Amino acid sequence: MNNYIPVNEPLLNGNEKKYLAECIDTGWISSDGPFIKLFEERFASRVKRRYAVAVSNGTVAIDAAISALGLSVGDEVIMPTFTIISCISQIIRLGAKPVLVDSDPMTWNMDFNQIERKITKRTKAIMIVHIYGLPVDIDPILDLANKYNLKVIEDAAEMHGQTYKGKPCGSFGDISTFSFYPNKHITTGEGGMIVMNDEDLFKKCHSLRNLCFQPQKRFVHEELGWNMRMTNLQAALGVAQLEKLDEFVLRKRAMGKLYTKLLLDTKEYLELPLEKTDYANNIYWVFGVVLKEKIPFNADEAMKKLGALGIGTRPFFYPMHMQPVFQKMGLFKNESYPVAERLAERGFYIPSGLTLSENQILEVSTSVKKILNEIC
Ligand SMILES: Cc1ncc(COP(=O)(O)O)c(C=O)c1O
Repeated sequence: MNNYIPVNEPLLNGNEKKYLAECIDTGWISSDGPFIKLFEERFASRVKRRYAVAVSNGTVAIDAAISALGLSVGDEVIMPTFTIISCISQIIRLGAKPVLVDSDPMTWNMDFNQIERKITKRTKAIMIVHIYGLPVDIDPILDLANKYNLKVIEDAAEMHGQTYKGKPCGSFGDISTFSFYPNKHITTGEGGMIVMNDEDLFKKCHSLRNLCFQPQKRFVHEELGWNMRMTNLQAALGVAQLEKLDEFVLRKRAMGKLYTKLLLDTKEYLELPLEKTDYANNIYWVFGVVLKEKIPFNADEAMKKLGALGIGTRPFFYPMHMQPVFQKMGLFKNESYPVAERLAERGFYIPSGLTLSENQILEVSTSVKKILNEIC
């Protein structure tokens, strides 16, 4: 399809080539090269943290963060059901227990009002996951964490450049994580970052990233780690991308504003992302839409119709309590989270990448209206 509009494309129009050429010219292509340290330092400073550990993707960043916190069998972690599987895997592998909460229907983020009643003697941590462009309302969660002496893991995979009450997302958890997959505001191809202020957590993540090699006795291991190292090539991309982050956030906000304006007259049929809350303005990691009940088809069907018109889309997350893999394990039996279930059934996102032109945004909006007009 010639004029196909993909759901996402990265924008690599800064110093990426120059920095990659430096890696090749100097031969530094492994995880020992100088861009790693530079990327970690600049990223830490950007999110106002003392330490950063670059890793190979956002999923292992969460795995390491959970392990570094020392969670183990029977410990409970409160987290949203409406998220990606990356958030929950390591909790389950460790024999700990994910305790789910539903989403807020307006922001699609975890509903903090549901957290306190889920806290038990076994609760050890709360996992905040910022979804699609607006941060979670963090302050009430930090208050609960203080009150009950719980750790906070913050998954800021989608939140580069976003702030909560003026402070950077990624600065709130005891430990916070990011992803640099190519659909993110900044990318390293594949990549992730773990950030923290606590030196012990930093040392643990640093060690876990590199197989828990010991500096003095390299091939003698006291603990098990992973190889989750980022390469110098990826970090070179990261440094170049970070230089453009503010510009990218502005581009995404302009995209969100234009979609919102163009789709305003579909409000009877579509729920659009909130432009802002009293603590943040949306950065539109993706531009999600939710089909209202008046529409007789679900997200799957809408995506098929848009695909036929040359428009790329992606479904919303599929809630954790409905995942076949966990049902087979006997987890989350008889649990129901209606907001998340509705989002999964009726939500999807339309092209939202950094390379989108105004004409493409117009074309996508026209196609969305076309599929709605067929039935309205
Ligand atoms: C909220 C969230 N957490 C974690 C991840 C996992 O990141 P990665 O794809 O880099 O493993 C993603 C990826 O999109 C995400 O959206």
